[in-house]
Amino acid sequence: MRRISVLLSVVLTLAVVAWAQEDKKKEEKIKEPEKVKTLHEAMEGIGKQSESIGTAIRKKSYDNMEKDARKMLKYIDKAIGFEPPGGVKGDEQTKEYRELQKKLKVAITKAADEAKDKDFKAARKSMRTASKVCGTCHNKYRPEEEDLDK
Ligand code: HEC
Repeated sequence: MRRISVLLSVVLTLAVVAWAQEDKKKEEKIKEPEKVKTLHEAMEGIGKQSESIGTAIRKKSYDNMEKDARKMLKYIDKAIGFEPPGGVKGDEQTKEYRELQKKLKVAITKAADEAKDKDFKAARKSMRTASKVCGTCHNKYRPEEEDLDK
């Protein structure tokens, strides 16, 4: 009888451990899309600000440039630390991805400061540098549309 109860408690313990692991797996599954959603929303914001600055530059109307750049910085801060859907693979990519995020922040901070000083020529140049960083990162880390539908 005693043996049975020992056995029973072992089985119960194993079951509890198994449940706990199931829960943990579920939690990880929930977290991953949340991260992807956060990055996506931040990118949408970055994209919107970037468009607005681009249009302003074409029209040579610089009144909102600093404000737009600072707004973009808020979205950049939101994106920092969030990896692309599917993640980055290994230390090498992690390092590169983070450096690209940092480079974008540096370029946009510079553009905002230059716009504040009304040095719009310099600000335009910083924006060009920034958009090269967008392109570099997207070429390597942004999934194709069809990948996102999977
Ligand atoms: C460090 C990498 C990185 C940098 C730098 C970067 N992006 Fe992205 N961007 C991504 C990834 C990854 C995605 C795909 C994530 C998603 O939309 O779910 C993305 C998606 C986007 C999207 C698509 C959002 C949508 O609605 O589908 C836009 C727009 C965008 N980025 C604009 C920009 C602009 C503009 C810049 C530069 C000012 C920039 N990004 C810089 C990584 C980056």
